[in-house]
Amino acid sequence: MSVSRIALPRGPLPPRALRRVVQGMARDGAVALDGLFPLPLLKRLRAEVYRRHHSGELRAQGRVRDIGGRYAAVLPFRGPFLNKAFYADPRVLAMMGALLGPDFCISSLETVISEPGAGRQHQHVDGPMRFDRLVGGKKVPYRGDLSDLPPFAVSLCVPLCDVDEENGPTAIWTGSHREALRPRPPGEAEVGRRFPLVPMAGPFGSAFLFDFRVFHGGTPNYSREPRPLLIMVFTRSWYRDPNQNEVFPSVVIAGKDLARVPAEHRPLFMLAPAARRPLWGARTS
Ligand SMILES: [Fe+2]
Repeated sequence: MSVSRIALPRGPLPPRALRRVVQGMARDGAVALDGLFPLPLLKRLRAEVYRRHHSGELRAQGRVRDIGGRYAAVLPFRGPFLNKAFYADPRVLAMMGALLGPDFCISSLETVISEPGAGRQHQHVDGPMRFDRLVGGKKVPYRGDLSDLPPFAVSLCVPLCDVDEENGPTAIWTGSHREALRPRPPGEAEVGRRFPLVPMAGPFGSAFLFDFRVFHGGTPNYSREPRPLLIMVFTRSWYRDPNQNEVFPSVVIAGKDLARVPAEHRPLFMLAPAARRPLWGARTS
């Protein structure tokens, strides 16, 4: 059992590849992508991530959370991350448009550094959109069937090294993305029973997308090297990622750098403080 593995040619995304992405996301809640970013670009991104990791500033300034021997940290759009070949690859934008509609934006840019010895992460979904009500202190679930809703948030995951069973691929219970919005979401054992678990392994240069609603979890890093993973989350413009509730901002770009982003791509950064018109003398950077 696997997810669709889609080889991307350079240049515009062929309609057939786009269809496979949309169908794969609808069926499995995840797709694997080969040939998305060129290795020289990925190596520059990796060098920047390692520099910030080894200096300690990534953890000190960007840490969002610790997760059993791995930590997630927000990365600034600076240096190699300001390359529009990274943040506005036309094929990625075409995929996000097809999945999220015309008004999507970048919700966050994070890296997850899984250190040697990192353990198994619990099964979870990243963004459970719930419509529960509280009545007399009791939670009442929304009874309607929301399982057919289209995606509202999609993570683009780009490992910055080869990923195999040894160093801890993200494991995805494929096809489980329609379950999180049911009136009573299934428990861990039921998800494990009903949906095949697929480790998203692949060589350096491969990437994958997953729907925020799909059940997943990190697997142990048995190797002797850290395993850095980039995660750029795209959302519909109205959605706010609950994983970022305790931190601010989740999109970091300086005003002078945002001014140099081509106008057509500036809406991608709408959640960055530098993109917002300050009121009442608020400081934005
Ligand atoms: Fe997650």
